Amino acid sequence: MGLETSDDAGVYQLTDEIALVQTVDFFTPIVDDPYQFGQIAVVNALSDVYAMGGSPLTAMNLVAFPMKTLSPTILKEILLGGLSKLKEAGVALVGGHTVEDQEIKYGLSVTGIIHPDRILSNAKAKPGDHLVLTKSLGTGIISTALKGGMASAEAIGRMVQGMVTLNRKASEWMLALRAHACTDITGFGFIGHSWEMAKASGVGMKIRSDRIPVLPEAVDYIRLGLVPGGGYANRNFFSCRVDVDPKVPPLLVDLLYDPQTSGGLLISLPPAEAEKLVTALRQEGNPDACLVGEVVQEPQGRIEVF
Ligand code: CO
Ligand code: CO
Repeated sequence: MGLETSDDAGVYQLTDEIALVQTVDFFTPIVDDPYQFGQIAVVNALSDVYAMGGSPLTAMNLVAFPMKTLSPTILKEILLGGLSKLKEAGVALVGGHTVEDQEIKYGLSVTGIIHPDRILSNAKAKPGDHLVLTKSLGTGIISTALKGGMASAEAIGRMVQGMVTLNRKASEWMLALRAHACTDITGFGFIGHSWEMAKASGVGMKIRSDRIPVLPEAVDYIRLGLVPGGGYANRNFFSCRVDVDPKVPPLLVDLLYDPQTSGGLLISLPPAEAEKLVTALRQEGNPDACLVGEVVQEPQGRIEVF
């Protein structure tokens, strides 16, 4: 499996029992705390493996750092934050590479394994499935407010809490419940990644706007115009594939297009299993997990928000 269905990671079959899952991700800091930035980068990089139902095994650091102008302590903190999350995920750090750069960048290449018969792509959502989202939306908006010095400590805290939460448990549950399809919500926002799943699966989706989990204060910052450029780009690109009921509050629509960093999983599975998934994740301490919509036969490749 490669690039053709915009799937989350590349898969390469080794034997009848084992395939490799490989992915790479890195970015510039989105929070001020270097340790937290390291944690976020790792959780984000592992997410594509979890989205496919794989088990990440090894990782390698990719680092760009202004060694002439910034203290090495900052780099150490970033890497320690990253290592804490790799340990939590049971992933071995086996190497890495650092280059001198004017801007900090950190991320990882990740290698995992998966059984070839149990790969969860974004192309197998079935009409009648329910859709579960496992993290709140709004990280793009809150981090834009953070950059502008306008985000409250509480809003930043809640955003970071979500971004440092591994998608591991959600992934293990969806495998146990035999989910049909999955992807993670990242740069194209909720709408963009939902649409990719709908298109790849040859189905449509109905999204219940009142069920979408949203980070506190995100709506307040949208009112102040703190929408990242990526949010406008997503709207421009995807809005012709979306039907929004006029009763849906426009601020909520902005959130559906908001690009996410280290976002949650969007999982498509039969209704009874979807209910079990939400209950299980909430019992394990994730109050954000929500049933947000359903998969329909027609119209194919369209998202209806109501
Ligand atoms: Co992805
Ligand atoms: Co990715």
